[in-house]
Amino acid sequence: MSMKVSVQISPKPLLEVAVDSVVVREYEEERDKGAVEEMERRCEVGQGGKPSLFTDLMGDPICRVRHSPSYIMLLAEYGEEREIVGVIRGCMKTVSRGKKPLSNFPIYVKVTYILGLRVSPTFRRLGIGTKLVKKLEEWGKQNGAEYAYMATDCANEASINLFTLKCAYVKFRTPAILVHPVHAHYKPLGSGIAVVRLSPQLAESVYRRVFANSEFFPKDIDAIFSNKLNLGTFMALPKKSLPKWDPRTGNLPPSFAILSVWNTKEVFKFQVKGVRALTYACCVGSRLLDAWMPWLRIPSIPDLFRPFGVYCLYGLHMEGKGASRLMKGLCAFAHNIARDDVGCGALVAEVGQCDPVREGIPHWRKFSWAEDLWCMKKLNTAKDDIDESGGASEWITSRPSTSVVFVDPREF
Ligand SMILES: CC(C)(COP(=O)(O)OP(=O)(O)OC[C@H]1O[C@@H](n2cnc3c(N)ncnc32)[C@H](O)[C@@H]1OP(=O)(O)O)[C@@H](O)C(=O)NCCC(=O)NCCS
Repeated sequence: MSMKVSVQISPKPLLEVAVDSVVVREYEEERDKGAVEEMERRCEVGQGGKPSLFTDLMGDPICRVRHSPSYIMLLAEYGEEREIVGVIRGCMKTVSRGKKPLSNFPIYVKVTYILGLRVSPTFRRLGIGTKLVKKLEEWGKQNGAEYAYMATDCANEASINLFTLKCAYVKFRTPAILVHPVHAHYKPLGSGIAVVRLSPQLAESVYRRVFANSEFFPKDIDAIFSNKLNLGTFMALPKKSLPKWDPRTGNLPPSFAILSVWNTKEVFKFQVKGVRALTYACCVGSRLLDAWMPWLRIPSIPDLFRPFGVYCLYGLHMEGKGASRLMKGLCAFAHNIARDDVGCGALVAEVGQCDPVREGIPHWRKFSWAEDLWCMKKLNTAKDDIDESGGASEWITSRPSTSVVFVDPREF
């Protein structure tokens, strides 16, 4: 998912810099950590008195890609002092792009995901961002990636122009990011709903089945399930159908909802800055009341004004009668896990625009964003995909194979 970044207006370059004199090289942790942090701090600006969301990478600039099977971070250096003026991260993985014609087997493609592109405010509009993207694409191609994609806030004109006008990406999908604050009270699951935890093996077999045709389903889902940041996969089903369900048969219950929880709190934190004193006082007041009188279930706002972590809900799917209610109960269950984790401020789920699960995921519209824009480019132009008629087709121009976009929690 894209991080909301404050957009600075940079109409004209402030310096005369030849982009050829900018050198792009790989990040070296020991040597570059401090300078990258400093540069990224300069990129994080408030929005003139409006509340802004800041990201704290907790002393590890490469943390957002570290959990992917293969990743890189590139730096742009300028001048004799080798000042760091830009960064970009990327990772590589194999994902499904839908199913094979006339079969139920997924088509897998190797993709590069591009994220965390930042250029120092005084060095913008000089072609440095474009240079970093092109170098990252080269890395992708050298490692066999067929596509590169990125996600950005649909209001980030600079980023959209860079990718679409300068680097030939096309606007591809627009999943929604749904955010729910963690209250001080526990949420009720709903009557007649049971929640069970699935073993990683069972979770994998259910996921490979239900997400076989979805876009971006990672082939190495087992690696995600065995990662220490993964807090588990949970299924909600009607209590009365629980005794009748035997997972060993390979059958799924007639009605169920499923999701997995990923703890990003150990990797990076957010912080809201720039709120007015009155808003701040209302938030703190609501929290105190909720903590004192949890039975009233006041929809309080947690302390978002100090660094807080989030839980990412991923792999959300539901089936059968009353599934939406089961999904609501399951999200309440996930909320309660987050409620018990001090410093976890919100639950975030990113789902396809028309994915039916959307109606079952409680969220606050004010905190959510309706369209996270994903842009994509085909890197390997020589190789075409096969469509149902046996001819060549492009994933980029094709309609989505399902309404589901699987969002990999490692790239959150
Ligand atoms: C987005 C960002 C990386 C662009 O870096 P940059 O080095 O200035 O980009 P480039 O100089 O290569 O610009 C390439 C093109 O992008 C577009 N662009 C860049 N900045 C723009 C702006 N402020 N407004 C509109 N278009 C812009 C233009 O089409 C530009 O080409 P042009 O200068 O010939 O008109 C930089 O503005 C930045 O760090 N922003 C904050 C973080 C961010 O939004 N990152 C992207 C997250 S995916």
